[in-house]
Parts: sequence; C-alpha cells; structure tokens
Amino acid sequence: METKPMRPIRLAQDGRTVEVIDQRQLPHRLEMLSLDTVAQVIEAIQQMVVRGAPLIGVTGAYGVLVALRTTDDEAAFLEACAQIKAARPTAVNLAWAVDRVVACAMAAPAGTARQAAVLQEAGRIAEEEVDNCRRIGEHGARIIADISRAKGGQTVHLLTHCNAGWLACVEWGTATAPVYVAREMGIDVHVWVDETRPLNQGARLTAWELGRAGVPHTVITDNAGGHLMQRGMVDLVVVGTDRTTFTGDVANKIGTYLKALAARDNGVPFYVALPSSTFDWQLQDGLADIPIEARHADEVHWVQGATRDGPARVRITPADSPAANPAFDVTPARLVTAFITERGVCKPDRADIAALFPEKVQ
Ligand code: MRU
Repeated sequence: METKPMRPIRLAQDGRTVEVIDQRQLPHRLEMLSLDTVAQVIEAIQQMVVRGAPLIGVTGAYGVLVALRTTDDEAAFLEACAQIKAARPTAVNLAWAVDRVVACAMAAPAGTARQAAVLQEAGRIAEEEVDNCRRIGEHGARIIADISRAKGGQTVHLLTHCNAGWLACVEWGTATAPVYVAREMGIDVHVWVDETRPLNQGARLTAWELGRAGVPHTVITDNAGGHLMQRGMVDLVVVGTDRTTFTGDVANKIGTYLKALAARDNGVPFYVALPSSTFDWQLQDGLADIPIEARHADEVHWVQGATRDGPARVRITPADSPAANPAFDVTPARLVTAFITERGVCKPDRADIAALFPEKVQ
C-alpha cells in the first residue's frame, strides 16, 4: 500500500504549467486540471478544486508565478496577487504564502531572473510543507504509540474531522501524518472519519486517502462522534486547522468545535496538528478576529455525488427553505489538549507556543 502516492499540486513536465488534482471529482474520478491564468487559480481555490490550508497556500504561491507570466505590468501583477490572496478568507496560509513569494519577486530584477526567483520560492514553500508534515507525523506518532502501549497494543481509535490529509497539504497531511507514521511503526490504528457536511471532505477525501493507503477506517455521520466517545470507542481526536492564533484558538472546518466539546466531556484528548504556516502570529482572540468564510447556501441545499453514469446532484431541502453555510468554527484554546507542530508538541497557550517558535512570538 502507498502512503504518499502522489501530490495534489505539481508542475507539469514542461516545468511551467501548474497542475492540480480536481478534488471536486473525488472519490469517483481522479483528474488533473491545469491552472494557466490568474482567474483559473482564483476559481480553483474558491470552487475547492484545491482546498485545505497548506495546499491553498502552495496554490497561492504558484499562483504568483502564473500572475508573473501573464503580465509585464508591475501594478497589474501586484493587483493579481492581491486578488489571489483574497480568494478565501479563513486559511491564513494563503496570504502568508502569497506575501512571501511576492516579496521574493519584488526583491529580484524584473524579467527572467524574477520568474526564476518566484519559481524557486514557490517550490521551496511546497517542499517545506512536505517536511513540516513529515515531522508532525513523527511527533504525533509518539502520542499514538503511548496510547497503544497503555492499551497493551490493542487498536488505537482516532477520530478526525474534514480532510487534513495529503490532499489538503502536499504529502503526508497534518492530522493524518501521525496515523501514517504510526502504521510504519507497526502500531494498530483505526480512524473514525467524520463525513463533514456539507461538502463531505471526510467521506469523499479522507476515506479515499486512507483506503488507498490501506488504513482501517470507518466513515461516520457528523453527529456520531459524541456517541462513540461516550462508549469509550475513541482514544483521541486529531484535526487540522485553517488558522490558529498564537494564543491557541483554532479555526477549522465547521463542526470541529462540537467534537472538542464532546471530547472534553468524555475525557478524550483533543489534538490539533498544524505546520507553523497555519499560525496567525498577529491575532490574539480567535473568536473575535478570525474571519469565517460564509459559503453559498446551495452547498447545503444540494448533495453532490455520483452514479455509474457520472456526477449527480440531489436537492434535500424544501424549495422555499433558506439555508446558512458557515464553513469554519473556532475552538477555544481551553478545549485543546495540545498542538502537534513540526517543532514538537506544545500546550495551546502563548507561552508554550512561544517556547517552540521564539522568533515569531515576542
Ligand atoms: O474548506 P476546506 O476543505 O478547505 O477546509 C479544510 C479544513 O478545514 C482542514 O481541516 C484544514 O484546512 C487543515 S488541512 C491540513
């Protein structure tokens, strides 16, 4: 079985064209899409062809390259980059990556040298995220190993929400990386996969990823987790995040907060796995200050699936009922057991985060 079979973003053989897996088609079809224009990059991020905080960041980074290639005018280039940066509001990785590559572009002389600098910086961000996720996997696997030992080697049951796997990153994933590494260590792990309405990233993407890697898993409805925790069927929860304040508040896919509440009520440890690119080093109060994306109500009204003949959409609400679709929620730091980062595991508070990232927190 393959744990890192492919990447959700790559440069084509010509070394120029940015290609991404069209995640809207999974698990039914594995198709690549080329992103040749800034409009295509923005649409891919907004329509969730690519999604997941680290991958949105890497796509934004390559988007700067696309912007540079499609205009010679510096003001137009900067405006295009600003538009890419604003494509989705919650995952801080997008703005972080675009700013980093734009700064690199502006430090290089215009022309081919600038293009080379941008290409190199975007590639560097992608490779850094691979390395970060691998390290998150190593640190997180130790937590799973401790639980396995405490259970006398019996299966460890981990619950996750949304997709924080390699599809959401570049390789390994954040929440899934500890699972992959634990299995390499010979630890018996089973994953409860929240379906994650309305777009079903758990049911469609996490289940697909885990299945390809041969990881035992079970898809559950979003509301089943609390019930399983009450019956002692969950040993730990591990989720990803789109933006985490340096004080420890965690924005992640809608429904994460309810899992954290249920975990606290049942004494189940609740971990958040994240690379440093997902920390917001400016914001203190997650509830007040993290922008929460409101997505289109149609994602609630219509369920997307497939039949043998191809994609199919089914309406599930009455024609006249309005729907609301907040895409993320904020789990306060007090409900988080610990963060699993590339530099190690820390408590969800300013002092502990600062101890791991002293150059970021004053
Ligand atoms: O709306 P999505 O699918 O982009 O949301 C993704 C998540 O909420 C993930 O948990 C998060 O980005 C972490 S990915 C490592």
